[in-house]
Amino acid sequence: MIVNLYGTSAISEEGHLSVGGVDTVKLSQKYGTALYVYDVAMIREKARAFRNAFEQEKVNYQVAYASKAFSCMAMIQLAEEEGLSLDVVSGGELYTALKAGFPVERIHFHGNNKSEAEIRMALDAKIGCFVVDNFYELTLLEQLAEEKNVVANVLLRITPGIEAHTHDYILTGQEDSKFGFDLQSGQVEQAIVQATSMKAIHLLGLHCHIGSQIFETNGFVMAIEKIYRYLARWFELYGYEPEVLNLGGGFGIRYTEEDHPLPVGDYIAAMVNAVRAQLGNEMKIPEIWIEPGRSLVGEAGLTLYTVGSHKKVPELRHYLAVDGGMTDNLRPALYQAKYEATIANRMNEPKEQVYSVAGKCCESGDMLIWDCKLQSAIAGDTMAVFSTGAYGYSMANNYNRLPRPAVVFVENGEAQLVVKRESFEDLIRHDLPLKQAIISK
Ligand code: LLP
Repeated sequence: MIVNLYGTSAISEEGHLSVGGVDTVKLSQKYGTALYVYDVAMIREKARAFRNAFEQEKVNYQVAYASKAFSCMAMIQLAEEEGLSLDVVSGGELYTALKAGFPVERIHFHGNNKSEAEIRMALDAKIGCFVVDNFYELTLLEQLAEEKNVVANVLLRITPGIEAHTHDYILTGQEDSKFGFDLQSGQVEQAIVQATSMKAIHLLGLHCHIGSQIFETNGFVMAIEKIYRYLARWFELYGYEPEVLNLGGGFGIRYTEEDHPLPVGDYIAAMVNAVRAQLGNEMKIPEIWIEPGRSLVGEAGLTLYTVGSHKKVPELRHYLAVDGGMTDNLRPALYQAKYEATIANRMNEPKEQVYSVAGKCCESGDMLIWDCKLQSAIAGDTMAVFSTGAYGYSMANNYNRLPRPAVVFVENGEAQLVVKRESFEDLIRHDLPLKQAIISK
């Protein structure tokens, strides 16, 4: 029987949740908990859906995986296998990509405060493109590229004055954001004029990212229309037109049954149609790039925990604690994010209890799910929390000195450990003992 929620999830003969043909209870026994589990087939399916949508629209494109959502060497290699490009936002993400052997020409480097060392590292690696965020970076990149006698490909990140969050659109004139060149106040125009005159810079085009967890296409369409209002003028004035238009990420996913994401093809079709509609007679259609993070890996990941203590507050709440929490999933504490869960070893039992799932950190806010319907659970049961694949592991931390969990990929009935669990030893790896001289003072 297939569980209605997620990708290749199913219920095994013993009544256990299985993913990718692997029994999650066995996974928790073999690798321990908390444990991140990724359904690789689902990641592939999402990547292919984005690429197929572009193929259907018959435009040149790149789908860059925003690796901030979940970065490790195996994930980067999977992105490469699926023909994706890669968005990195730091020296650390770039290092991971390089160590994973990702094709450098398909790496795009983001960030609002790239350091000189990071820029040098990226220039030395000959990455495909820098998404330049501000004038300081433009000048620094030009200097460093000139020094190295290379030409850096550049997209200018612009803030178009449209912010989309789920169903809300915030229209602002000058956008109050730390990211990008402001469109309204003339910064973008000035940056284009500067960049096109720099010998060590090749201006590829423009980039914008309008928000996260977006469930409608109109935010993207509005952003495109706004950008083209300016582009039409710059085409007339300077003959400028972008080779590339990168429209960022932000495509919504399903965390709970309240979320109804669109098929990815709908976003792509709306974007390409909106661009086509803006071109007029003379401008050519640019290459369209996007940067999905959450929508590629979010629903494909789940976290397994072992149930521990219970606490019942009469007539108020029944707390059920697990062996993880805000250390492996910061999103509920940080954004009041909502999740669904199940007891993975009791899949054939009814969800008749209402529990609030607590983490194990010393912090009242360390709650994973409030008031959630679950099967009656006892200590030692395995709980699975769904849709934790994006910004779970990548925002994991060592609060209370909890070691970070392991990550396992499952596909076609096989499991593969791709990130080892941290040990206590790892936790003190960089600690240095107090100097004797200070102790004796
Ligand atoms: N491109 C740019 C320039 C971005 O800033 C982001 C996300 C993405 C692409 C990928 O967006 P996605 O498709 O994943 O929505 N920690 C937060 C999310 C922060 C997103 C930051 N930027 C969370 O857990 O919801």
